[in-house]
Amino acid sequence: MKAAVKCGEEFTQPMSFESDGYSIIEMPELNHEELASFNKMPRDRHSLQRHRTIRLTQYFGYCETNQWIFAPLPKRHYVQSLEYIKLSEAGGVPRYREQLQIDPSSLIARVMDNLPVDRAELFHVNVNQIRVTVNKTFKGVTVPEGPHRDGHEYSVIAVATRHNVCGGETQVIEPKTNHIVFRKTLAENEAILIDDERYIHFASNIEASHGEEGYRDIWVIEINRWKNRAYGPLHDLTSCKGATK
Ligand SMILES: [Fe+2]
Repeated sequence: MKAAVKCGEEFTQPMSFESDGYSIIEMPELNHEELASFNKMPRDRHSLQRHRTIRLTQYFGYCETNQWIFAPLPKRHYVQSLEYIKLSEAGGVPRYREQLQIDPSSLIARVMDNLPVDRAELFHVNVNQIRVTVNKTFKGVTVPEGPHRDGHEYSVIAVATRHNVCGGETQVIEPKTNHIVFRKTLAENEAILIDDERYIHFASNIEASHGEEGYRDIWVIEINRWKNRAYGPLHDLTSCKGATK
């Protein structure tokens, strides 16, 4: 019999993003096609010691007459700066990603409507679609790099499905003291918005609730004003400096 995954006591809901630097929101419900799209994703070839399937599309976004417009940017490798991601398979490494097969505009719009962003600005948005599976062969490691910041202005984790899993608790951490300021096991259709310049974040591993297999499907949405975009040749050049591969 396996030991239950220990989860910390959950904190009371934050007051507001403006006062706390993080907040919890409800996401739009996913339709059948959107939910099923999680079943058709390729393995992350850069992280084969765990069972993670993934897609990514990067967007240009702006708001006009209160309508958000998100246009896919040309496909590029995904590059996270070595400055923020201290994991040799990820930090400063251009990683190959297949693009999303559904349009996540309604999800991004819900997030933007709940962030203190200036709607006159232009934006760069990454939408990562991720499934982490736990089974007989693979542990349900959700964040192998440990507590980290993503290197964006805002980071969002939204849970789409939790199938036969426990664990996967999201933690918001004060970087100077490593004090956990907030922790919550996000429910389906719940998202946490984080000021990525102020906090680091982490999520505990998942384990199967019954039997041996389960999975957790999430969206990770990363947002920057266009002038601070983490996209394009200049960003990739700066982010890969000092990387060993
Ligand atoms: Fe992250």
